[in-house]
Amino acid sequence: MKKFNHVIVRRPCSAIKDGISGGTYEGIPNYELALKQHNDYIAALVQCGVDVTVLPADERYPDSCFVEDPALLTRECAIITNPGAESRNGEKEEIVEAVSRFYPEDKIERIVAPGTLEGGDVMMVGDHFYVGRSARTNEEGIRQLTEILEKYGFTCSEVKLEEVLHLKTGVNYLENNNMLVSGEFVTKPEFQKYNLVEIPEEEAYAANCIWVNDTVIVPEGYPAVLKAVQDLGYKTLIVDTSEYRKIDGGLSCLSLRF
Ligand code: GLY
Repeated sequence: MKKFNHVIVRRPCSAIKDGISGGTYEGIPNYELALKQHNDYIAALVQCGVDVTVLPADERYPDSCFVEDPALLTRECAIITNPGAESRNGEKEEIVEAVSRFYPEDKIERIVAPGTLEGGDVMMVGDHFYVGRSARTNEEGIRQLTEILEKYGFTCSEVKLEEVLHLKTGVNYLENNNMLVSGEFVTKPEFQKYNLVEIPEEEAYAANCIWVNDTVIVPEGYPAVLKAVQDLGYKTLIVDTSEYRKIDGGLSCLSLRF
């Protein structure tokens, strides 16, 4: 099934070494390696049949390669978010021009203060959107998002986060009713209707795989998750994201897929 035609990514900047880290993973990102891994990521996406818009690095924002957070792109509308991390908030203005290449002005919506929202907290499952209430996404942001999505015929529901940074840090939908879940998400009542693939604790990072047009991209170094995804019948591609992991970034964070 071809669902996505376009992807937007932003090159990592040399300031990536100053990206926000919760300390779960050790080390400081190596810029040269991050660039190489970004090239490999783009190549994998191209193999999945999408065109990739590559935005230039923005040195003002160390985390700006994680383009998933300042926008949410749906088949009906685009939503410019209001990132809850102060050092990332300005990224929302820098994504508008790229989004405008694909959406008319009257289909570009905004989350505004006091609402905060980051795209990493939003998981699309068909026409329903799960949104994590996290340290980055607040009640008012979720209220605004729900109102916007309902205007376009979508539904939305809140998922409370206790442990992880973003909703998609720990749960990702692979289409066909299949959902990867780790940690606090394994027992969430709202996810029990899906075919849950429980990720072992030592491979929790790899809960953040992405489905792109029937191929699942899996981070390098997680054999149990790779096997579980292959056992579901998906074609897989592997991309090393070691430098992004050091600042809590994963495969989904690095692109907008629509
Ligand atoms: N370093 C990714 C984030 O904290 O948003």
